[in-house]
Amino acid sequence: MTGVEPSGAVQFATPRLKICVLGGTGFVGSELVSQLAAAGHWVRVPTRALSHGQHLSVLPTVELAAVNIHEPRVLGELLAGMDAAINLVGILNERPGARFRDVHVELVARLIEEARIAQVPRLLHMSALGADAEGAPSRYLRSKGQAEERVRGAARDLHFTIFRPSVIFGPGDSLTNRFLRLLRLSGFVLPLARAHARFAPVYVDDVAGAFVRALSDRSTFGQTYELCGPDILTLEQIVRATAAAAAVKCRILALPDFLARLQALVLGLVPGKPFSLDNFRSLTVDNVCRESGFARLGIEPQRMAAILPTYLGNESLPARLDRLRAGER
Ligand SMILES: NC(=O)c1ccc[n+]([C@@H]2O[C@H](COP(=O)([O-])OP(=O)(O)OC[C@H]3O[C@@H](n4cnc5c(N)ncnc54)[C@H](OP(=O)(O)O)[C@@H]3O)[C@@H](O)[C@H]2O)c1
Repeated sequence: MTGVEPSGAVQFATPRLKICVLGGTGFVGSELVSQLAAAGHWVRVPTRALSHGQHLSVLPTVELAAVNIHEPRVLGELLAGMDAAINLVGILNERPGARFRDVHVELVARLIEEARIAQVPRLLHMSALGADAEGAPSRYLRSKGQAEERVRGAARDLHFTIFRPSVIFGPGDSLTNRFLRLLRLSGFVLPLARAHARFAPVYVDDVAGAFVRALSDRSTFGQTYELCGPDILTLEQIVRATAAAAAVKCRILALPDFLARLQALVLGLVPGKPFSLDNFRSLTVDNVCRESGFARLGIEPQRMAAILPTYLGNESLPARLDRLRAGER
């Protein structure tokens, strides 16, 4: 995206779109904002604390804004002059001051209204696989479903696209890194709830790639994309793959549901809520796609087995891919 002028000065290509990314400092957001910046877009990222987005401040077309997006007028100011808004804000558990209804539903309703007033024509919205306003087993998934309904209800005012990924992995995730931490803390013997629950883990680069691909593609307007990796794995297989990639020992004690609920009750009281009853309820339904959103977007998602060693082990991605191409595991 850059060129060198005869004077020797580095010239950046004109950014193509102005995009406000809510939740841009998080795990998915950091990858997405990097990809958007690399594609030449100008990106505004609100955050509750600048320190959460420090790693993004080195990107030349990224602007961080320390604001409270729940306060009146803030969204309107953030969206002024934007070509698109992307919403990635999400929480896995409620805390005082951060309820699912406020963070997932009311925020989206206000975002839609402010986008309409600011005449922002495009909204990409991050949901979750299994989101269902009424039928989902957990409050997390029901609130995600209610947010989807709000977004679909705004079709007359803006071009929306909704993404529903399975669990997402990659450097800095709270999936593989959390299991690794728990394994180390527990002496490599992990009592695991819903060990047989099925997932299709999806690589964070691919998820971010789907957003970038959809941004200006009119065929994605009004569409919902389920995003799954190529392999269906049980939770137990995910933990084992994580341990193998990090070369640590791993013994899993698959908990029956009554003990898993007890575990959730106890851990739900621990600061940071590593696991809660609501998380347990989310795990009672399989997290696999009914259709391939990636195929519709023309993206071939990467396998977990190929990626895990690149950030949990000591091997670089090119080296790992070379070995896989050569038929080695
Ligand atoms: N990770 C997964 O496996 C997965 C799977 C399916 C769906 N999703 C969805 O994908 C989205 C991104 O997930 P992620 O893993 O990247 O999450 P994350 O790392 O926890 O990032 C969450 C982002 O949301 C912002 N945020 C959190 N609570 C907020 C609040 N109360 N008010 C305002 N902003 C708040 C944070 O911004 P600041 O801290 O900078 O303010 C941060 O940028 C979420 O909507 C999540 O539900 C994730």
